[in-house]
Amino acid sequence: MPKKIAAPPPETQPSPRPFAYRNRLLHCDGADLTSLAAEHGTPLYVYSAQQISHRFQLFAEAFASRPHTICYAVKANSSLAILRLLAKQRAGFDIVSGGELERVRKAHKPALKKVVFSGVGKQIWEIDAALNADILLFNVESEAELHLLAARAEACNKVAPFALRVNPDVFAETHPYISTGLSEHKFGIDIKAARAIYRSAKKTKWLDPAGVSVHIGSQIRKVDPFAAALTRVTSLIADLRKDGHNIRYVDAGGGLGVDYGATAFDPAKQVAKYAAALTKSLGEESAHLLLEPGRFIIAQAGALLTRVLYVKKNGTKTFIITDAGMNDLIRPALYHAHHEIIPIKQPTGKSTLTADIVGPVCESGDFFARDRTLPPVKPNDLVLLLDAGAYGMSQTSNYNSRPRPAEILIDGDITKLIRRRETMRDLLAPELL
Ligand code: LLP
Repeated sequence: MPKKIAAPPPETQPSPRPFAYRNRLLHCDGADLTSLAAEHGTPLYVYSAQQISHRFQLFAEAFASRPHTICYAVKANSSLAILRLLAKQRAGFDIVSGGELERVRKAHKPALKKVVFSGVGKQIWEIDAALNADILLFNVESEAELHLLAARAEACNKVAPFALRVNPDVFAETHPYISTGLSEHKFGIDIKAARAIYRSAKKTKWLDPAGVSVHIGSQIRKVDPFAAALTRVTSLIADLRKDGHNIRYVDAGGGLGVDYGATAFDPAKQVAKYAAALTKSLGEESAHLLLEPGRFIIAQAGALLTRVLYVKKNGTKTFIITDAGMNDLIRPALYHAHHEIIPIKQPTGKSTLTADIVGPVCESGDFFARDRTLPPVKPNDLVLLLDAGAYGMSQTSNYNSRPRPAEILIDGDITKLIRRRETMRDLLAPELL
């Protein structure tokens, strides 16, 4: 049952994060994290609905001057309650699987008509499900996929609106695992080959060449690469119009990065800069703009609350062992990603401790931070891993047979358990003996 909390939430979110000390204890908006941990256990994901909405609105305002739909990238955090929260603000959704399609259907069925379907390996059942759901746009990633889409559209007696996801061959500085816009990457179709493929699509009545799409990667902090990619796309659209195609959508993808560090970061300024750069690249182009942000909306609205189990020394090194592990938040292990880690009790003194903060999983790669200096913590203390709202819960696993954490959404003065902690029964349910 949703629970009322006592302290009123602040009216605005001047900081990029909704987590702050009040009476020396860390809160998420009005909710005291110590009480949440006592009630729901740890590890625990905690999100601020207010911050999610705030970030979404920043996008909406920045692009207000042109027709647009913000298709939140479901993969960043696919919890149904979060999808519903965004759908109610008129978000569309960027999906990459039949599973994500079902999540949108369950969260808010009318939003299906605002779904764009990306992904390099769409299967027949997924294409059929999306055709039958009358989604907005298929972002097609290869010629072979386009042929399959035409065949399935005919079989389902539906005309498939599609955009080619072009690969603009633009370099964007980010982690190599999440960069996608170079010709060496598996994503998209060479932009130089696109015009001929659109032409070939005219041969069938089952395909509707409705747009052009691009996505160059994730956690991109500079806006210039987005602008360069979109400039190329805009010029392709002009060519496609000359070829007689009725292009109505331009999908600029996602990828806008956040600042995971402790420095001040102004999300409003960052979105405004991004919007200005995209608008400039689009010039006179008036097609309906689709955007696919994930991380920027949800990363800093969420955090992972974990309890210190042990503090131990091996030689000269100190290890803080938490009850959350790489199966609960894999970003540091997988991308060497930085997450700020702060104690739940506001430190009073200036003393510090330098340690590796690690999980209980049997891998040396199971770390959250290495040689991190933080206020001293002892067993049973709670600490918070910040900026874990995006690609945190959605990338969890049951590795080491560990149940997935619970999730809490703080919504105004209401605390809502939006996903219960997995149980041993959940863990073993699919297995047959
Ligand atoms: N659109 C497409 C086609 C994508 O592939 C992605 C992300 C997005 C939109 C959303 O990008 P965003 O706005 O969230 O940057 N697990 C990695 C990030 C993987 C991103 C994959 N694609 C991480 O934790 O950093």
